[in-house]
Amino acid sequence: MLPGPGPGGRASSQLTKASVSKWYAPGRRACSSLPRHHRHTLVPLPPLPAARRGLVGIPPRSLYAADMLNETRDVHPGATVLSDRSFVRSETRPAPVPFVPEVTLHMAQDAIALWETTEAVRGEVGLAPPFWAFAWAGGVGVARYVLDHPELVAGRTVLDLAAGSGLVGIAAALRGARSVRAAEIDAYAVAAIDVNAEANGVRVDAAVEDLLDGDGAPAEVVLAGDVFYERAMAARFLPFLERARARGAVVIVGDPGRAYLPRERFSALAAYDVPVVADLEDAALKTTTVWRLDPPQG
Ligand SMILES: C[S@@+](CC[C@H](N)C(=O)[O-])C[C@H]1O[C@@H](n2cnc3c(N)ncnc32)[C@H](O)[C@@H]1O
Repeated sequence: MLPGPGPGGRASSQLTKASVSKWYAPGRRACSSLPRHHRHTLVPLPPLPAARRGLVGIPPRSLYAADMLNETRDVHPGATVLSDRSFVRSETRPAPVPFVPEVTLHMAQDAIALWETTEAVRGEVGLAPPFWAFAWAGGVGVARYVLDHPELVAGRTVLDLAAGSGLVGIAAALRGARSVRAAEIDAYAVAAIDVNAEANGVRVDAAVEDLLDGDGAPAEVVLAGDVFYERAMAARFLPFLERARARGAVVIVGDPGRAYLPRERFSALAAYDVPVVADLEDAALKTTTVWRLDPPQG
C-alpha cells in the first residue's frame, strides 16, 4: 500500500496487511522464506554484468511460454538467462485496465508473489517492488484524462515520468502524441513498457534513466502518475516538475491523495473514483485527482 491521508488513509508506517508491509520495510524477509518452489533458483553464481542482467535459474512456471525460448541465452555453464521482457510476459497476463479499457496492460495478480519471484530469480533481496506490474491510481487518472482530452497531447512531445507499466505514455501515444518518452529507474519497468506498448500497437521510447536533476526538455508535456508517495521522492520530483513548468512545459500529475503531494502548487482538472488493487491500497476505489502544476509564483 502506498501511503496517503484521507478517509481510511494511513501513514506509511501503519500498513495493515502483513503481506504488503514489505513494500516499505527495509531488510525484509530473507530468501529462506521464499516459497519452496523458488528456493532452488538461488544458485550461487558470479554476478552478471548489468548489460546481461536477466533471469538466472528460471523457476519452472516461468518456462511455459514457448515464445520465450527465443529470448533465452546461456551466460554460465548450466544457467539460462531470460530477458526482462520474457520475465514480464511470463509473470503477468494482458488485460484491459479497469477504468481505462482503451489500454491493455500486462498485469500481475499478486504483488508479493511477483516480488518474491523477482528476488528469487535474481538471487537478491531488497529489490524495488514490481510497480510495473500494476496500474496505479494516479496513472489511471492521468491516462483517463489524456484519453478524454486528446488536445493535451496530440502533436506534442510527451514525457511519461516514472512510467511504471507505461500506462500514461501509452494513453498519450494512442491520442496522437508526436513522440512519447518514458523514464524509469527500474529495468523491469522499461521491459514492461516495451511489452505493453507493443500490445497496444504504439511506440513509446522507454529508458532506464533518472531525469530528476534536469527539466525534462524537450518534452512539451510532462505527465506523472502517482509519484508523491514518499517524502524523499517528493523532494526531488517537485523541483523537477517546477523546472519543467518554468521552461514552458505543461505538467500534469495524477494523485489519489498520497501523503506528500503539495496541493497548493496545483490546480485540479478532474477527479475520478478509480478502481484499485485491493491488496495494494486501503480501499477498492480511490478518488484520484488530475492536477496541473501552476505557473511559477511571483
Ligand atoms: C507508484 S509507481 C507509478 C507508476 C505509474 N506512473 C502509474 O501511475 O501506474 C512509481 C514509479 O516511480 C518510479 N520511480 C521512482 N523514482 C524514479 C525516478 N527518479 N525516475 C524515474 N522513475 C522513478 C518507480 O520505479 C515506480 O515505477
